Amino acid sequence: MTFVVNGKNHAAEPRPGQCLRTFLRELGCFGVKKGCDAGDCGACTVMVDGEPVHSCLFPAYRARGRAVTTIEGLARNGELHPMQQAFLQAQGFQCGFCTPGMIITAASLNQSQRQDLPWALKGNICRCTGYSAIENAIRGVSAIEKAEAADACGRSMPAPAARAVISGAAHYTMDVAPAGLLHLKLLRSPLAHARIKSIRTDEALALPGVRAVLTWQDAPRKFYSSARHERESGDPDDTMVLDRIARFSGQRIAAVVAESEAAAEAGCRKLVVDYERLPAVFDPEQAMQSGAPAIHGDKGPESRIRDARRNIAGEVHGDVGNVAEGFAQADVVYEGTYVTQRVQHAHLETHCAIGWLDETGRLNMRSSSQTPFLTRRALANLFDLDPARVRVFCERVGGGFGAKQEMLVEDIVALAVLKTGRPVKLEFTREEQFIGSTTRHPMRVHIKVGARRDGRLTAMQMRVVSNTGAYGNHGPAVLFHSCGECFGVYRCDNKKIDGFAVYTNTIPAGAFRGYGLPQTNFAVESAMDELARKLGMDPIAFRERNVVRPGDPMISVGSDEGHDVKYGSYGLDQCLALVKDAIDRGGGLSPPPSDDWLVGQGVALGMIDTVPPFGHIADVSAVLRDDGTYQVAVGTAEFGNGTSTVHYQIAATVLATTTDNIRILTSDTDNGGHDTGAYGSTGTVVAGRATQLACEALRAEILSFAAEHGGGGAAAWSLAAGAVVRGGRRVGLSELAAAARAKGRSLAASGRWNGTPRSVAFNVQAFRLAVNKRTGAIKILRSVHAADAGRVINPMQCRGQVEGGVAQSLGAALYEEMIIDDTGRVTNANFRNYHLPQFGDVPRTEVLFADTSDAFGPFGAKSMSESPYNPINAAIGNALADATGIRFCQTPFKPDRIFAAIAEKFGTAE
Ligand code: FES
Ligand code: FES
Repeated sequence: MTFVVNGKNHAAEPRPGQCLRTFLRELGCFGVKKGCDAGDCGACTVMVDGEPVHSCLFPAYRARGRAVTTIEGLARNGELHPMQQAFLQAQGFQCGFCTPGMIITAASLNQSQRQDLPWALKGNICRCTGYSAIENAIRGVSAIEKAEAADACGRSMPAPAARAVISGAAHYTMDVAPAGLLHLKLLRSPLAHARIKSIRTDEALALPGVRAVLTWQDAPRKFYSSARHERESGDPDDTMVLDRIARFSGQRIAAVVAESEAAAEAGCRKLVVDYERLPAVFDPEQAMQSGAPAIHGDKGPESRIRDARRNIAGEVHGDVGNVAEGFAQADVVYEGTYVTQRVQHAHLETHCAIGWLDETGRLNMRSSSQTPFLTRRALANLFDLDPARVRVFCERVGGGFGAKQEMLVEDIVALAVLKTGRPVKLEFTREEQFIGSTTRHPMRVHIKVGARRDGRLTAMQMRVVSNTGAYGNHGPAVLFHSCGECFGVYRCDNKKIDGFAVYTNTIPAGAFRGYGLPQTNFAVESAMDELARKLGMDPIAFRERNVVRPGDPMISVGSDEGHDVKYGSYGLDQCLALVKDAIDRGGGLSPPPSDDWLVGQGVALGMIDTVPPFGHIADVSAVLRDDGTYQVAVGTAEFGNGTSTVHYQIAATVLATTTDNIRILTSDTDNGGHDTGAYGSTGTVVAGRATQLACEALRAEILSFAAEHGGGGAAAWSLAAGAVVRGGRRVGLSELAAAARAKGRSLAASGRWNGTPRSVAFNVQAFRLAVNKRTGAIKILRSVHAADAGRVINPMQCRGQVEGGVAQSLGAALYEEMIIDDTGRVTNANFRNYHLPQFGDVPRTEVLFADTSDAFGPFGAKSMSESPYNPINAAIGNALADATGIRFCQTPFKPDRIFAAIAEKFGTAE
């Protein structure tokens, strides 16, 4: 058959049933992405005869003789398509995984379709941006700025990979085709709790193309945690590469490695597993009761499980003052129980890795990871390898949101590589993301708060039960964090917290944007709103009266263990004022013109430590190259959070040049020093600070050598674009590098930042919304978010982080929910039945920044990746309470829940 792809003829024969997506990728069109393989996300969109289609649903043979255009073919004669140019100007992406499909769809829209973008973009999901930057691109709004030498910080500079992203040239983990690649597929447990009695592998091994079957007997008998942290002692060692006991429905049981995906899948179907069913428990409160099945009852203290008999992975307890006395002093008391659901990260690039042994026998792992260095450490430990014999690296990562702060694929790929000696690939399906990766921790939070008539808090008490699922990866740490800043942000003499991270026979929870705070923040900020209501106070005035101020202690659990959190800057007062002003100013949508709609507004705040506790390290090296440009090696991963852009800006500012004279190497354990990884919103404040220090040290080295080479003291010389200068004398940097080389020297330096002391960042969100009394539907009329990010190094990117965080959190507030049946199975394991926010679901958010400068962050910056997510659920709940007079204590606020409560109150059930 003949196919015309991007203007070129290809003679090829699709396999029976092959979709156009895989066919095009086999032709090398890697810009055709896979987000779902089910027609739900649009990442695979291509044009067939000028019409956009989801190529994962389009049979390849139907494209025969028709003109197929992928993102790689959109540019003509070296000229970008106007829509690519528009996405470049607006920087309409973050991770960029959705971008090729989004651009193809947008490029095919006519004028009238562009007037109705919610409809026109229904088939394309973006998980990162919140769609504002995408709308800007389609409407032709430019967001980027240029910078002169040493002027990059504070400007909306474009991402260094922007051109590659919008042209489809950016390569993600799966966008390579190594020779001799084997494919790995996993057989997963159908049972929530079972012991494997036997696995018959002979029929699978007899299938053509199957090269190996791996079972628990092939895997190291070592327990570890899939969570990745610099300090590992907080995570229970309760997981094995392949275990003999299945503790949740969806757990890996065996792996089949074959010459093709189809053969590996067929091999999985031929495995015969004999299970002994074990009693299961799904509710964390029941799991703590005596008599409940002990899910990790086989483990001793070396596993660091707090109380395996009671299924407690970790617990926190702390108090200050005397809460009983505090409540006795209160004039008003509020008490309630708040329930948050299990949600999925839904990054569009699923978990994936390709591993191989190089010519020296060294294990290489090309991975979609937020933590290449920590993953290398874990692989070396697991397989008894010298860390120098393991390389882990990322090229470009298609989103993570915490999910890739786990080792969920690299371990089994490494096992397969070491067993077969061949390159091996594993790419999770979208279903596997839902049933076999990790989720946010569902929590049940009981809160009680009291205040005096004058509005002063007298007591705060909280009990948190967090469902960590079958494994304790991140469970204790998430619990610890969930009990932290949401309480610490309020001045109150009497506080008490008890928290439990509890095992159940459900899919494991893990790191998720906000790291536990969104769940507890929902309870705390709702409770504060209730107190304000009882006191007849404005909710913002109530918060202004009670929030901590610089100089106040920030009292929360663990605040005395190596306490290094300080007020490096403080902008919460500004954030509250900015939001109040914006709401008072009005604006936004009008409520629908009908008495059926109730209108209300709500506000919530959040505080977050800018770095996780207990160590976060970045070692950065910088060198002046022979051509007079700079190379900076940073270990942290870029997964759409924009940290590489910030690192360029920092380096260019310190080295008095423009970003095009900087080359940054990232995310590769072969590139120099250690980096803990891209989590905890540390890309700017830790890796960025280390970048600043490395570049400052390099500047000093260059100036010192300039003095040695050209005379005068180092202080007499200064760096300029492309040269060092002293008065009227100018020496080009390439000349200086050559002079250094002639003396056997290289002009290089390094910088390290270990993440301490840590500062605090703040976010305040307000919503105005309308609720329909008859349907429970919610329309958001106005969304305002104020953030204290210190000095904002890249306003466009920082705004994008806020917009994306608000959109993702709105999904959790309004629709997203993983449904688990009474056998422990996830029943909505696809995007179609798990509602991700689409373009039309997300309101435009007005983003405002406090004017502060932090003492610890680079150039005064603070982190702003996770924290915008945290106050959203509570702000929506508070607006709902304002509109209806009903306090909704369970997310998501789905119309059926809202409707039922409103119908009862207003009698609108008809
Ligand atoms: S991969 Fe085709 S629509 Fe998602
Ligand atoms: S930029 Fe759209 S999914 Fe990441």
